Amino acid sequence: MSRLLLIFIGAPGSGKGTQSDLLAEKLAWPVISTGELLRWHLHHQTDLGKQAKKYMDAGKLVPDKVVEDLVAHRLAKPDTKHGVIFDGFPRDAKQLAKLLTWLKKNDQLYIIEIKVPDKEIINRLVGRRVCDCGASYHLVYKPSRKAGICDLCGKALYLREDDRPKVIRDRLKAYKNTAKPLLTYGAENAKLLAFDGKQPIKVIKAEIWQAIKKLLK
Ligand code: AP5
Ligand code: MG
Repeated sequence: MSRLLLIFIGAPGSGKGTQSDLLAEKLAWPVISTGELLRWHLHHQTDLGKQAKKYMDAGKLVPDKVVEDLVAHRLAKPDTKHGVIFDGFPRDAKQLAKLLTWLKKNDQLYIIEIKVPDKEIINRLVGRRVCDCGASYHLVYKPSRKAGICDLCGKALYLREDDRPKVIRDRLKAYKNTAKPLLTYGAENAKLLAFDGKQPIKVIKAEIWQAIKKLLK
């Protein structure tokens, strides 16, 4: 049987993390989120975290080698054998080329694009609140049950360091400069599934699930 590798791509704040977690609940597959892996290292002040911090705080991409090593390590774990959901990797042509070298014979790769206009992005990100446990909320669109407190672990929620308007603009620029080869690869190989990310979270979730169900048959 073939193994599916589902790659979420979209601008910062487009809903990659939200939708990859929802899809993972349905499929019981792991999510490999490079942003989450890097933030774990930042939070625990590891050498890798200290190295990545200056790039992340500036809205720039962390060097490929650092990210690829993190992904290779996670991908080697046995829970990835039925399928994997990627959030934020690969992010440019070089990372895509690297991932393609890791594919096994029966692996199938699909790119799931979430499209959201720039003006909506700022609104999404300045209203996002996150928790150290990895949970993510929005003040309006996905509020926690108790204001400022994580539903899952009870810790205080906070604004991500890179969710300040100046850094958001640089992240958007980085996305536009690097995403094209992935979209081209998906389109040319009939592996691109695109969704309108302006819709409510539940509607996008349902549309993605309809599309993925067909691939599982
Ligand atoms: P990463 O963590 O991947 O950040 P990003 O790509 O900028 O994306 P975000 O996590 O900000 O947004 P999202 O699309 O996940 O949206 P979310 O679901 O949270 O990367 C951070 C940094 O790490 C990078 O800048 C880089 O430095 C480094 N990095 C990571 N991967 C790397 C790589 N491969 N190579 C090199 N460097 C790398 O949603 C946003 C908000 O909107 C939430 O509040 C949510 O509740 C809300 N929301 C979601 N969907 C909807 C909806 N449909 N309607 C209304 N609200 C919604
Ligand atoms: Mg995210």
